[in-house]
Amino acid sequence: MKKLIIINGPNLNLLGKREPEIYGSETFEDYFEKLKVKFNYFNIEYYQSNIEGELIDKIQEVGFSYDGIILNAAAYTHTSVGIGDAIKAISTPVVEVHISNTFAREEFRHQSFISPNAKGVILGFGMSSYDLAIQSFIV
Ligand code: DQA
Repeated sequence: MKKLIIINGPNLNLLGKREPEIYGSETFEDYFEKLKVKFNYFNIEYYQSNIEGELIDKIQEVGFSYDGIILNAAAYTHTSVGIGDAIKAISTPVVEVHISNTFAREEFRHQSFISPNAKGVILGFGMSSYDLAIQSFIV
C-alpha cells in the first residue's frame, strides 16, 4: 500500500472558520476522515504546523521513505527558501496544493518557492485540490 502524507502549513488548522468565502466552511479534520474512506487503498497521514522549521523537519523525516507528499505550505509557499530547499533535498515526490486559485489573488501569492521543485501543482479547486493531488498517485 502506498504511503502518502498531507502536510499543511500555517493557519490551515483554522479551516472551517478562517475566511470561509475563500477556504470553505469544512474543518480539515472532517474532510480528512472522508478522504481516508475514499482512498482506502492508500495509507494517508496528516500533519499540520504553523512553524516553518517544524514543516522542514517533517519533510526531511518522511522525504526518503514515503511514496508521496501532498504539501500546502500556505503562506510559506510565497516566502520560504528553506521549504523550497527541503523539497529539492528529498527523494519523495511532492505535489503542491492550494485550496484557492493563488493566481487570481494578490500578486505576492503568484510567487512559489515550492513549484520549481514539485512534481506538479494543483490549485483553485477548493478542498477537492487535495483529492486531485491524491489521485495523481494512483498511476
Ligand atoms: C493557500 C494560499 C496561500 O496564499 C495562503 O497564504 C494560504 C492558503 C491556499 O490553500 O489557497 O494560507 O495556500
